[in-house]
Amino acid sequence: MDRLMHLALIMDGNGRWAQMRSLPRTAGHSEGAKAAVKVTLAASRRGIRYLTLFCFSTENWKRPKMEIDSIMGLFSEEFDTMLSEIMKEDIKVVHLGRRDRLPYPLLSKLDKAAEMTKDNKGMTLQLAIDYGGEDEIERCVRRAIQAGNKEISYNTLLSYVDNPAIPSPDYICRSSGEKRLSGFLLLQSSYAEIGFYDKLWPDWNESMIDAIIEDFNKRNRRFGGI
Ligand code: FPP
Repeated sequence: MDRLMHLALIMDGNGRWAQMRSLPRTAGHSEGAKAAVKVTLAASRRGIRYLTLFCFSTENWKRPKMEIDSIMGLFSEEFDTMLSEIMKEDIKVVHLGRRDRLPYPLLSKLDKAAEMTKDNKGMTLQLAIDYGGEDEIERCVRRAIQAGNKEISYNTLLSYVDNPAIPSPDYICRSSGEKRLSGFLLLQSSYAEIGFYDKLWPDWNESMIDAIIEDFNKRNRRFGGI
């Protein structure tokens, strides 16, 4: 059994978590951000090499402006508090997704974090913010054409994803019991194992990483073989 190298998480259920407590949705996102920190540190400490977090999709711009502003503000704040932990853990941070629509303060923090952590040797934390798999595929095709490729194979496209040095995910998991991928890592997920967990995202902590590693280790990956 191959080790779990790249774990990718769809963090879902913040809104429902808040609703169940008669709190505003933004309270669910705040708790969700705390869960993201716990899960990130646990993944790093358990030896996972790449962790991708689906933080904000290309479709999430459809939400009310107040909620979007609150989420973007939360990413910025959480970044400030997380950065010292990230350095201590030797984690390398990279952004995945579109850059052109992100608020400038967040974009500059992401760039600064990427620069500051670029030589770190521990886990790579890939933050998908304004990310959509369909959108990424379109960008791959554009880049491949611009680079003068005449024949475009699947592997050609893979070499033009936003972060080509990051291997495809081994295990994609979604919280909150919803059973779909919502375009997450659309091009890179062809042979990923998939897992759906009922727990709402704000209730996630270190123990979920242990459960995920245990579940992954029971999978029998054949990649089309027998
Ligand atoms: C999904 O819940 C969550 C989001 C759309 C984005 C917000 C994510 C976080 C705040 C956690 C990540 C934080 C950091 C710092 C990396 P939902 O609102 O879709 O929930 P619902 O389906 O119950 O409405």
